[in-house]
Amino acid sequence: MPVRLGFIGVGGIAGAHLDAAQKHGIPVTAMYDINPDTMKERQQRYGIPHIVSSAQAVADHPEVDAVVVCTPQFVHLEGIRAACNARKPLFTEKPLSRTLADSYEAVRLVEEAGIVAQIGFVRRYCPEWGKFRELIEAGVIGRPVVWWMAGGGPGPGSSFFNQADQGGGPMLDGMVHNYDFLRCMWGEPTRVVGSMVRLHPINTALDTGTAIIEFASGDRHTVLNSWGMPSGVRSGGLHNVLGPKGILYFSDPDNDPPVGLNRDEFGYLVTKHEGGRREVHPFKKWNMYEAQLVDFVKAAEEGRKQTRATITDGLRAQQIALAILGEYSF
Ligand SMILES: NC(=O)c1ccc[n+]([C@@H]2O[C@H](COP(=O)([O-])OP(=O)(O)OC[C@H]3O[C@@H](n4cnc5c(N)ncnc54)[C@H](O)[C@@H]3O)[C@@H](O)[C@H]2O)c1
Repeated sequence: MPVRLGFIGVGGIAGAHLDAAQKHGIPVTAMYDINPDTMKERQQRYGIPHIVSSAQAVADHPEVDAVVVCTPQFVHLEGIRAACNARKPLFTEKPLSRTLADSYEAVRLVEEAGIVAQIGFVRRYCPEWGKFRELIEAGVIGRPVVWWMAGGGPGPGSSFFNQADQGGGPMLDGMVHNYDFLRCMWGEPTRVVGSMVRLHPINTALDTGTAIIEFASGDRHTVLNSWGMPSGVRSGGLHNVLGPKGILYFSDPDNDPPVGLNRDEFGYLVTKHEGGRREVHPFKKWNMYEAQLVDFVKAAEEGRKQTRATITDGLRAQQIALAILGEYSF
């Protein structure tokens, strides 16, 4: 019998997982959300049979084999605890939680329950970032590299994202994907520096700033990010990787797609080298949310504890975020 999923929280990101489940024939049998209208909409759209009245009721439901937690991070622990109590496989969205105390408790509960558990570091399944990693590891632009990323806007729709004690702002909620990806490539950082400020008066989180993350290899990441802009206002973006033998561009600086490349099926990255020589690096596209859910369901079926991204990976990436926010030191 296929693994049947129960959802705790069915708002924005749950939609990506529900689409993936529907596409791959993975049954979703129960859900709980504090917003009844959201549940009603999800039930109509995805035909989820059971609406229940608590996180624990999702995890305990006899037609649920694995639990998916898509609530905001300041309440992730409630869903994690429910899955651990029921001793059922757990997928939780990132970041692991808002506070280290919650995350230490999450790690403890998961270890004690001995369940399959995975955190939603979906960039581990991203074909574009996978290609980026492959090119860096192949030495195409040499080593060490400096990965630059910058961008700014008002941030995501729900208000919790920019509240200090709920979402924690962009350097925790948004950039935690980067910290996890950095750890995959280069291990634990040797130094983390953050300089943060709050720009938008409605936000309580530090919504704007800069972080530098350094590694023993000499590689580093510099990120400038803001979720402190008024609605409708966005900065330009910057996303490059600099190395001694060239630059890797996530967006083609010449806007010159290779002739004959089927852009529906393939994307590409560009590197530039000595004398302006340009190289194009195509990659096959796929939906990273689908790849992630299918892999989690397989891990649950197989009882595979070593999932692609573990709860401890969640804790480690969160520690980097909290170091940037001045709430943790290495
Ligand atoms: N991996 C990714 O790419 C990605 C993208 C977006 C969001 N996220 C993460 O997913 C989580 C949810 O974000 P979102 O964008 O879906 O937010 P959202 O506000 O759109 O949805 C959250 C849902 O949780 C419900 N909820 C809140 N508290 C609850 C509780 N105690 N019990 C049950 N339901 C509750 C809300 O009613 C809402 O429907 C966050 O942790 C966020 O960081 C991950």
